[in-house]
Amino acid sequence: MENITTYVKEHKDRFLNELIDLLKIPSISADSAYKKDVLQTAEVVKKRLEEAGCDHVEICETDGYPIVYGEKIIDKNLPTILVYGHYDVQPPDPLNLWNSPPFEPVIKNTDLHPEGAIFARGACDDKGQMYMHVKAMEFMTKTNQLPCNVKFMIEGEEEVGSSNLAVFVKNNQEKLKNDVILISDTGMIAKDVPSITTGLRGLSYVEVEVTGPNRDLHSGLYGGAVANPINVLTKMIASLHDENNHITIPGFYDKVEELSKEERAEMAKAPFSLEAYKKSLDIEAVYGEAGYSTNERNSIRPTLDVNGIWGGYTGEGAKTVIASKAFAKISMRLVPHQKWEEITQLFKTHFESIAPKGVTVLVKPHHGGQGYVTPIDSIGYQAASKAYFDSFGKTPIPQRSGGSIPIVSLFEQELKSKTILMGFGLDSDAIHSPNEHFGLFNYFKGIETIPLFYKYFTELSK
Ligand code: BES
Ligand code: MN
Ligand code: MN
Repeated sequence: MENITTYVKEHKDRFLNELIDLLKIPSISADSAYKKDVLQTAEVVKKRLEEAGCDHVEICETDGYPIVYGEKIIDKNLPTILVYGHYDVQPPDPLNLWNSPPFEPVIKNTDLHPEGAIFARGACDDKGQMYMHVKAMEFMTKTNQLPCNVKFMIEGEEEVGSSNLAVFVKNNQEKLKNDVILISDTGMIAKDVPSITTGLRGLSYVEVEVTGPNRDLHSGLYGGAVANPINVLTKMIASLHDENNHITIPGFYDKVEELSKEERAEMAKAPFSLEAYKKSLDIEAVYGEAGYSTNERNSIRPTLDVNGIWGGYTGEGAKTVIASKAFAKISMRLVPHQKWEEITQLFKTHFESIAPKGVTVLVKPHHGGQGYVTPIDSIGYQAASKAYFDSFGKTPIPQRSGGSIPIVSLFEQELKSKTILMGFGLDSDAIHSPNEHFGLFNYFKGIETIPLFYKYFTELSK
């Protein structure tokens, strides 16, 4: 029977060209100017799932962008794997920082990817990683090696909060019934250090608006005599962290899970070089919450970060003005047990309470989501671990990620199944940034590892 490594070798060019075609479509869910492209991407995904051997593929309409659903049920008594991914991408801006246009994929070599990496928006997050599953499916169906049932659910609104997917999942429990959910939308430690993501952080995203005087004012005539909303906003934001970089919002840490000494010691074993980390970012020092390591700060600890701040005059030259309004967008990454709605409320109450007289504050909640952790003693984790061992020759390291896929905790709540996060990206792949890329090694290794997961999951489920 044909083996996956040879199959990948034989079909390498086609696997790559199909991904390139997918990456050419600018499926930017956040920008309605790309509506046609997002919809077209859903059509392409549908076609590819059919070609890969799904028996039944449909485009499920929602109040937003559609969900592509496909399945192949070979035997009701066998386990069912539900694959989730997203075909939408982040906006590519700032465009001038891309070395090649974001929707004209090119393959270039880099220090980390001497065998080449594909540069395009969505290459890693998540078209490239999602498409590995489509190609793994193709291999299993074309060579008669699909060992269990499979369902695909590929959405188009992950980058904007998945709110319509949440409705779809709640309304389609029977259709989506599964034994395990499999997602490739995270990363791994390094090309030669495979890892399995065992946790994701939650998220609360808010926008704030500080209003002072009813109109913009001359900063000479009024400066010093009225509250300047930008001065006030920056002072309020600065007060959200204390001198140890702890977040000062009352109650913020109440539900944070403190890891045991043993768990922290276990985490610290993951290979990590602070020197290389600083070098890769061109920084002299890291920065963060006192008492925690870099890897802890970006995975098991909650954070608060300003994502954007604006107001007043930012054009060329100088304009002496006190703006009437100042704005900021703020994200809080949360850890398991912190409830995002609760945190949003705590933020709102606190932020309103610290506003001085002379300004009014408006806090607008955006989206949010719960964090997620998965145990390593489940059949799903064990199957993934064996799959990586076979394809990489090393047992993967369990690792909690700092990123968020808010829908994962909803899957657990509604579908009662655990998610296995088999990510093949690297932190250096520049997801959400200019020059996003995905290593060809990672792409093909992913395709090789996935069928092994199917095999071991089916065996271990017996
Ligand atoms: N795939 C990412 C999340 C991710 C990346 C998790 C790398 C772990 C490692 C996903 O597409 C994403 O960008 N999520 C957003 C949240 C969403 C609500 C917009 C995020 O983490 O900012
Ligand atoms: Mn993603
Ligand atoms: Mn993303």
